[in-house]
Amino acid sequence: MAGVVWRGALQRSLLQRSLVCRPVRQATSVAQRIEDKRREAIAGGGEKGKEKQHAKGKLTARERLDLLLDPRSFREMDMFVEHDCVDFGMEKLKTAGDGMVTGQGRINGRPVYVYCQDFTLRGGSLSWANAQKIMKVQDKALEAGVPIIGLNDSGGARIQEGVGSLAGYGEIFCRNVTSSGVIPQLSLIMGPCAGGAVYSPALTDFTIMVKDTSYMFVTGPEVVKEVLSEQVTTEELGGAKVHTSKSGVAHLAYENDLEALSRTRELMSFLPLNNKDKPPVVACSDPSEREVTSLDFVVPPDSTQPYDILDVIKPVVDDGDFFEIQPDFAKNIVVGYGRMAGQTVGFIANQPTRQAGCLDINASNKSARFIRFCDAFNIPIVTFVDVPGFLPGYLQETGGIIRHGAKLLFAYAEATVPKIAFITRKAYGGAYDVMSSKHLSGDMNYAWPTAEIAVMGSKGAVNIIFKNKTAEEKVQCEEDYKTAFANPFPAAQRGFIDDIVKPSDTRRIIINDLDVLRNKTQTKPWRKHGNIPL
Ligand code: HXC
Repeated sequence: MAGVVWRGALQRSLLQRSLVCRPVRQATSVAQRIEDKRREAIAGGGEKGKEKQHAKGKLTARERLDLLLDPRSFREMDMFVEHDCVDFGMEKLKTAGDGMVTGQGRINGRPVYVYCQDFTLRGGSLSWANAQKIMKVQDKALEAGVPIIGLNDSGGARIQEGVGSLAGYGEIFCRNVTSSGVIPQLSLIMGPCAGGAVYSPALTDFTIMVKDTSYMFVTGPEVVKEVLSEQVTTEELGGAKVHTSKSGVAHLAYENDLEALSRTRELMSFLPLNNKDKPPVVACSDPSEREVTSLDFVVPPDSTQPYDILDVIKPVVDDGDFFEIQPDFAKNIVVGYGRMAGQTVGFIANQPTRQAGCLDINASNKSARFIRFCDAFNIPIVTFVDVPGFLPGYLQETGGIIRHGAKLLFAYAEATVPKIAFITRKAYGGAYDVMSSKHLSGDMNYAWPTAEIAVMGSKGAVNIIFKNKTAEEKVQCEEDYKTAFANPFPAAQRGFIDDIVKPSDTRRIIINDLDVLRNKTQTKPWRKHGNIPL
């Protein structure tokens, strides 16, 4: 009997031990596997890949995210995802994460989703698996109403995967379009970005490049040489300089990864989380009532003399802090963000130092896109007008200035955010109408005493309406024309401008009007969407 009891106890004890021990052993091996896979994902292309990346002047994906996001804020997602390609020996080349780091983090305490291509692993090429990681954060960002930033550094579609990779791009593009105008989308180009891959950044709101280490083109120099027998370098075809100054594809370019990432953080500080959110308001010690006395003297007495419009914008905004967008493209118009009493404002201003501030094709495109971003994301618009008209000439007309200029007009007229404008000097011809005029539903329209609002300048006008007069008579006619039109009264008498104001009061007026217009509502007839002349 005693033997039976003992054997029973032994059996129970063995059973218990096996029940207890088996999971412990399993847990240990699973824990080890988790740890190994984590290490594998973090290592990416390993020390060698890291060294190569550094030798090119580039940081690794994880180093970049460390700099972009607030410390310890990154919550990585899909670290264990692997590709499922079996062609060309790929079944033996699986790595946790598959060369793509995705997740959520914070910038200045505010949430953001990110994805980051890891060039050290298979050149950051896009597989179906890692495309799905991007798609997931795109979906999450949209659902949560949180901005998304993509860090691009990739050899493009993973060649071994064929259509799976192309499908991945298509799915990403489609989500870019769905999110457009709902959440801010930013793209940093920090290495190669070629072929159809360029279209995701092109669909996003801001494209930021790194000088010398990044490039973007649809077809590279080899294809150009083969097809067109043209010799062109990577930098000439798609470097940061060309895209920020000539093509307008990129908005900003910085010297290195570090600067690009820290300036991206700064740009984010101006933007709301989504289209239902208001832009963040920051604490401001710059007095709202501050007079800007320099503005009383900024416009030269001779109306043909240029002056720098940044000498108007910078003294007006809080603490002189102005974040210019596309500073090297279409320099005849200035756009960017500043704050007024802590609130984000989008500024648009003709630049008299460049082509006398004329509107041309590039200026129209640059500012129309800027207005549409501001309008989509509840950022009020302040416009400084000094525009002698549209740039004349064969190149502009045959290039479609009519169609492109119409975009700017459309964007201003369509925008329902508060719109405040100051005519500092010239507002001539059609450009007067286009630049945030009362007629395009401007909320508050002001003129400085130096404003000249007319169909055209005095010389041109006299040469048309008094063409048969003698040279001496024309001099007098010009004087008469100036007396009649080279001042703000004709517009003020008709109520087309609301007031003629002292330039030094400009800051105070903007802050007051923004406060009054804070809850502005404007209803429009139902439509699926307008048909902006693209
Ligand atoms: C798979 C790729 C890859 C790709 C690079 N790699 N691009 N693997 N698919 N598209 C791998 C390389 O084999 C190499 O692997 C590693 O990444 C690093 O590449 P390197 O060539 O050694 O680097 P580097 O000399 O710096 O040259 C970078 C590069 C070059 C200029 C990007 O790799 C390149 O030309 N790649 C192909 C670019 C391309 O044609 N992509 C398709 C574009 S069409 P190992 O194992 O040696 O480390 C496209 C269509 C999208 O993207 C359509 C969307 C609609």
